[in-house]
Amino acid sequence: MKTAVVILAAGQGTRMKSTHPKVLHKLAGKTLLEHVIDTSNQIKPDKTIVVYGHGGDRVKETVTRDKLIWVEQKQQLGTGHAVKQTTEELAGIDRVLILYGDVPLTRQETLVKLSQSENDIDILTVDLNNPFGYGRIVRDERNNVSAIVEQKDATEEQRKITEINSGIMSVNASKLINWLDRLSTSNSQNEYYLTDIVKFAVDDGDKVNTTKADNDYEVSGVNDKAQLAELERIYQQNQAFDFMRQGMQILDPRRFDCRGSLIFGTDCLVDINVIFEGRVTLGNHVTIGANTVIRNCIIEDNVSILENCVFEDAVIGKGSKVGPFSRLRPGAHLIENNHVGNFVEIKNSRVESGSKVNHLTYVGDSEIGKKVNIGAGTITCNYDGANKHKTIIKDNVFIGSNSALVAPVTIEDNVTIGAGSVISKDAPANSLTLTRSKQISVDNWKRPVKKKS
Ligand code: UD1
Ligand code: CA
Repeated sequence: MKTAVVILAAGQGTRMKSTHPKVLHKLAGKTLLEHVIDTSNQIKPDKTIVVYGHGGDRVKETVTRDKLIWVEQKQQLGTGHAVKQTTEELAGIDRVLILYGDVPLTRQETLVKLSQSENDIDILTVDLNNPFGYGRIVRDERNNVSAIVEQKDATEEQRKITEINSGIMSVNASKLINWLDRLSTSNSQNEYYLTDIVKFAVDDGDKVNTTKADNDYEVSGVNDKAQLAELERIYQQNQAFDFMRQGMQILDPRRFDCRGSLIFGTDCLVDINVIFEGRVTLGNHVTIGANTVIRNCIIEDNVSILENCVFEDAVIGKGSKVGPFSRLRPGAHLIENNHVGNFVEIKNSRVESGSKVNHLTYVGDSEIGKKVNIGAGTITCNYDGANKHKTIIKDNVFIGSNSALVAPVTIEDNVTIGAGSVISKDAPANSLTLTRSKQISVDNWKRPVKKKS
């Protein structure tokens, strides 16, 4: 059996009040449309067709998933008209699964159930306390589905029905193509309603059935930014509970965000308001303090991150202790057992095992050897205003506080740099190197006194 997924994504989404097409808004760091594509890919369809309209080029440029078929709906004349645009692409297909690009959280299990349905039409429905605005599932005296009526076309009686059409449905492909030809715009919105295919199926004696969604959020669409935020929280809580079941300790799942993929070992602990982005890997026994942002990083075993850190494209080697208030920028690589403390920024630098950078320091474009101690207030001056240069600090070096290392410069093994030095030439091994002028004292110094006016 050949299955096609058709994703409707041509609507404008005026209520988002945004210059971006609706389906490009992000949930957990990924566009709404990509959520729908990625989940539907898990049922391994033979084709995935996206019906686009508003912001089409931007949608195509942003959503770069493999093997998508893009079909344009030039004018948005209704959901039925949108599906009709795909008719040519449906040749040779047995089953069509129709999804909405702005309904991002339908579960894979639900789509599997629907796609395997043998009914000519199988509609994903849900019972809502407040069904206002949705199409209602109308049933006959034998409880069989007889039609879907839109809110605007429904009678007083029909508006009391709480079972609603999610819009998501699984349909026999050849019958669908025939029904689409019979659609008209004789309704209160002058649109081609996809939902009218239900009436045709009933008239033809074909089998129409419904599948209930297990959760309301699976059929919830995003129409405005408040609904987007609601679905974001649901996604994040579901994910947090998944991670906790896999053994991660999360101190408050309501204040946990992962916008990407997170791999972790045993006994990891995450305090509140930690944000993971992109691809993050945590080893075993990693603890992460509150208010930390970690983007595309590898954090090895037994690392302790204290509060308020920001890391991006960095590697933190095993046994290291970082924070509070540390910033690791792209290319920062702590090898192992390193200490990085408050108000330290490290960029594009390798720090070998056991070295410490504890306070108020900038390390950029540097190589730091083993067991080095970088004193408070040290700056690697890597930029001359035009080009970047390298600072090389070899093993067992001690850099006194408040020193400036003017790159390119090499500090050889076992050097001690006197505090307050500006080092612009290489320092030879085993030396004390300093650039301070001699301390002088003027005896009986009188401070100036204020002049009388
Ligand atoms: C539709 C259903 C309604 C259902 C509701 C669920 C119809 C006639 N009605 O109503 O029964 O309860 O969804 O949310 O199908 N779209 C296009 N091209 C168009 C029109 C829409 O691609 O010409 C896309 C939109 O981008 C959106 C989806 O189809 O992803 C649904 O469109 P929308 O206008 O929200 O449909 P509703 O009127 O809410
Ligand atoms: Ca809608």
